[in-house]
Amino acid sequence: MLLPASLFCLLQAWFALADTPPTQLSLNSLHAFSAATLNPTMYTLPVSTNPLSISVALCSYATSNPPRFFVANDSTTTPGPNTLGQPNVYEIELNTTALGAWTGDMLNFGVLAIYNATQSPFEVGVSDNGPIHQFLDTLPLLGDTTTNQVLLFSPPFSPPSISQPTYPNYTLPSANLTFPSEPSSPPDWALFIAPTSSPAFASLPRTGCAMRAAAGNVGFYKTSSNSEGLWLRDSDGWRWQWFINGLTPQTNYTVYGVTNGTQVSGPIYFVTKSAAFACTIVYSVPFCPSVAYAAPLPNSDPAAGITGSMLPDNMTENLLSGMANFTVMLTTLACGRDLYSPLVTCADCQAAYRTWLCLVSFPRCTEYPTSSTTSASSNSTSTASLAQVTPALQVHDAANPRNPYLPAFSENYTALLPCIEMCNAVDRACPPFLGFACPKPQYTASWSYGVGYIDSGEKGEVGGGSTGTAADRWGNVYCNAGGFL
Ligand SMILES: *[C@@H]1O[C@H](CO)[C@@H](O)[C@H](O)[C@H]1NC(C)=O
Ligand SMILES: *[C@@H]1O[C@H](CO)[C@@H](O)[C@H](O)[C@H]1NC(C)=O
Ligand SMILES: *[C@@H]1O[C@H](CO)[C@@H](O)[C@H](O)[C@H]1NC(C)=O
Ligand SMILES: *[C@@H]1O[C@H](CO)[C@@H](O)[C@H](O)[C@H]1NC(C)=O
Ligand SMILES: *[C@@H]1O[C@H](CO)[C@@H](O)[C@H](O)[C@H]1NC(C)=O
Ligand SMILES: *[C@@H]1O[C@H](CO)[C@@H](O)[C@H](O)[C@H]1NC(C)=O
Ligand SMILES: *[C@@H]1O[C@H](CO)[C@@H](O)[C@H](O)[C@H]1NC(C)=O
Ligand SMILES: *[C@@H]1O[C@H](CO)[C@@H](O)[C@H](O)[C@H]1NC(C)=O
Ligand SMILES: *[C@@H]1O[C@H](CO)[C@@H](O)[C@H](O)[C@H]1NC(C)=O
Ligand SMILES: *[C@@H]1O[C@H](CO)[C@@H](O)[C@H](O)[C@H]1NC(C)=O
Repeated sequence: MLLPASLFCLLQAWFALADTPPTQLSLNSLHAFSAATLNPTMYTLPVSTNPLSISVALCSYATSNPPRFFVANDSTTTPGPNTLGQPNVYEIELNTTALGAWTGDMLNFGVLAIYNATQSPFEVGVSDNGPIHQFLDTLPLLGDTTTNQVLLFSPPFSPPSISQPTYPNYTLPSANLTFPSEPSSPPDWALFIAPTSSPAFASLPRTGCAMRAAAGNVGFYKTSSNSEGLWLRDSDGWRWQWFINGLTPQTNYTVYGVTNGTQVSGPIYFVTKSAAFACTIVYSVPFCPSVAYAAPLPNSDPAAGITGSMLPDNMTENLLSGMANFTVMLTTLACGRDLYSPLVTCADCQAAYRTWLCLVSFPRCTEYPTSSTTSASSNSTSTASLAQVTPALQVHDAANPRNPYLPAFSENYTALLPCIEMCNAVDRACPPFLGFACPKPQYTASWSYGVGYIDSGEKGEVGGGSTGTAADRWGNVYCNAGGFL
């Protein structure tokens, strides 16, 4: 048999490199390794006209002599610690989260050498479309917690295409909002949730394979197939939604999102409430898509929370009627023709009003921060000083609900007031003739709103408040904006 000259040279080079011919790692695929016995173990890499990305993720930390990964993209050298520094030899260095990647040219030759692969299982991804293993900068989103439950969302994807209505057929969304159709092939997302202080979690690499493997003894691993489905909270896009039971009271938890099994996002943190917390998480309310928090509503099945269809009928009817009435009033303006602002439209006004109406219709329950939750936070970081900002709290008398359509609740509860910015957003987006007005920060606003957290109170300087945000990724919530960061 006659071999082409180039292949023959390649084979010769191979026999000089290693005793056994190396195995080929295929393009755009993920390769899982438990523990290799050869040291080093060699693999050929596919050649590619696009830059090739080789990514590596450990699935557990090696106690000593962690595996090391070397790449060469010409045939004259065996990649390894001894040849590092020569042209075309590279080490794929792992960062502190046990993730590493190399991207470069692999035009006519490529080889990967793995040293000391005996200590821990790992994955290698080979792709001509960016590293398969990555740390993403989007974050999962906390809805809210109860004593032993949490409502969480994946990072957003597939933002809806918003088509502004136009004159003369200026049709606003109906009071009972209907979502556009769901994306046909949404990316899968999973969540990994573990007690922040758990020692087993502290020694876990922040990689998809490590989290998947550790779930069960360290925390929870929830996939999109055991989620509550897709939800369109806002214009950021669709998110997977999870309602999770079985958590420990008054405990700080860490959450990572994992997409495609390999790309990790996070962490965010949340704290569960004390055993005395009596409110129920309300979520999946189609006409109030951003309501996803604990509210003072009685619940016959505490393990399930309350979804839109379980709300008391008169509460739903009153909210939809209020929304419909507002929309009718708004459209007495020739929306789309009589422009009242160069910046905002009737549709913006209606959307801001809906968000505000939902927040004030569903009071949000919380608790005074307890010493046991704050003891979990570190004193040395700048976030510790944020944690000391007191949230906008107010004790509500259950016998005199703010919303007369709220059903009777058995206990007084601590309410987290809506952020004043949610009211100001309506004021700013709506035409003046509607007469919508928010209380002034320096007078009565703090009776019913959280003032001075996001924007500064007196001057109203945007972002100039004490926290600059309604809630943060560390699990602190300062005022209610429906869970937005
Ligand atoms: C997901 O992983 C597979 C390999 O398992 C890879 O082929 C694919 O490109 C990845 N998708 C994304 C969006 O990174
Ligand atoms: C090897 O990769 C480096 C980095 O992408 C590139 O500069 C170099 O030209 C490549 N060498 C060969 C022989 O392809
Ligand atoms: C592999 O581990 C041995 C000790 O078992 C160590 O001497 C050697 O330097 C390690 N190899 C690499 C490439 O780090
Ligand atoms: C007006 O727009 C709505 C939705 O945008 C559409 O369903 C309706 O058919 C349109 N009506 C007319 C008369 O064009
Ligand atoms: C709102 O619309 C949904 C379907 O889009 C329907 O199932 C529900 O009954 C409606 N709710 C009310 C109060 O009309
Ligand atoms: C909406 O308007 C109708 C008719 O004017 C009125 O009966 C109803 O009480 C209004 N709804 C709300 C929530 O104010
Ligand atoms: C944090 O600060 C509080 C009081 O300022 C102190 O009692 C506590 O011991 C500190 N905790 C840590 C972990 O340093
Ligand atoms: C709730 O608060 C009111 C007024 O502060 C008080 O009179 C009432 O006894 C409290 N109810 C309960 C159930 O604690
Ligand atoms: C709402 O309905 C409940 C039960 O159906 C009733 O007890 C309550 O009085 C109603 N509230 C109002 C304000 O009509
Ligand atoms: C939860 O733990 C993290 C990490 O220790 C900390 O930064 C955060 O402040 C804690 N959150 C709360 C609300 O205590």
